[in-house]
Amino acid sequence: MKQFLTLSDLPDLDQAVNEGLALKKDPYKWEALGNQKTLGMLFFNPSLRTRLSTQKAAQQLGIKTMIMNFSNEAWALEYEDGTQMSGLRSEHIREAAAVISQYCDVVAIRAFASLTDKQKDEQEIVLNSFIKFATIPVINMESATGHPLQALADAITLKEYQQKSRPKIVLTWAPHPKALPHAVGNSFVRMAQQLDANFVIAQPKGYELNPKITKNTPLTYNQEEAFEGADFVYAKNWCSYSEYGKILRTDDQWMVTDEKMKLTNNAKFMHCLPIRRNIVATDAVLDSPNSLVIEQAHNRTFAAQVVLKKILEHG
Ligand code: CP
Repeated sequence: MKQFLTLSDLPDLDQAVNEGLALKKDPYKWEALGNQKTLGMLFFNPSLRTRLSTQKAAQQLGIKTMIMNFSNEAWALEYEDGTQMSGLRSEHIREAAAVISQYCDVVAIRAFASLTDKQKDEQEIVLNSFIKFATIPVINMESATGHPLQALADAITLKEYQQKSRPKIVLTWAPHPKALPHAVGNSFVRMAQQLDANFVIAQPKGYELNPKITKNTPLTYNQEEAFEGADFVYAKNWCSYSEYGKILRTDDQWMVTDEKMKLTNNAKFMHCLPIRRNIVATDAVLDSPNSLVIEQAHNRTFAAQVVLKKILEHG
């Protein structure tokens, strides 16, 4: 695998999930693979899980890591070509990406959506500029429109906890006080569309994700109807896509509660974290034995390990 920008870079999702589960059983089996290799991790936004799990994955493959927070440590980058750089941006992406390529063998980048300009967000300017000007493989650690490392970890978790063929998986929108990006929702949809599952999206009107991504995935505006018979409930907030960046409602009617979980087939509860307790889901849901949120975070390590291993094997 040359790079990991979206899930479709994986040659085979099911094979990658099985490889993740094998790495979970024997995490240091490939420790020699990353000998004398360096992973650069560039963060334009905060992170707990992505940073630590990717670093842990690299360590388990024998890869050294270098980490930089671009929000407060690096020079502000200019992405426009031909511009006279008289403003606050001190370094052009052309030099920055080329220089990082001298120090690292692989570079991983986190750069969220602005949620103010849909067209610019969909251009993925940060990620695509690194792809253009770096001479090393690029990994997406959550971009404006996708979080494929999270989706791969979620696929691993779903396989681990699946108890029957063709389970019912519900991706439910849930409330949040801040406008959040669509990246996790988009990548979860892309992943779940590839599973042999009864997959449905539940959300209030106005919160439809990008139709180019959801395609013909079943959609309901009735959360309780969606929960009936569900085997997995995956909660996530995202802001409006059609009224880009807007929060359309702030009430708690779509919060995941114990009462709603009782409508399911004893469903497992999933969320990518971080989660706002008693806003997105209640304490009772999160503290229930059916909550998989910590196991999802654990599986982030093996998802990142699969991706790094495939990139190193490609050479
Ligand atoms: N789920 C996830 O990406 O977590 P972080 O934002 O903490 O990395």
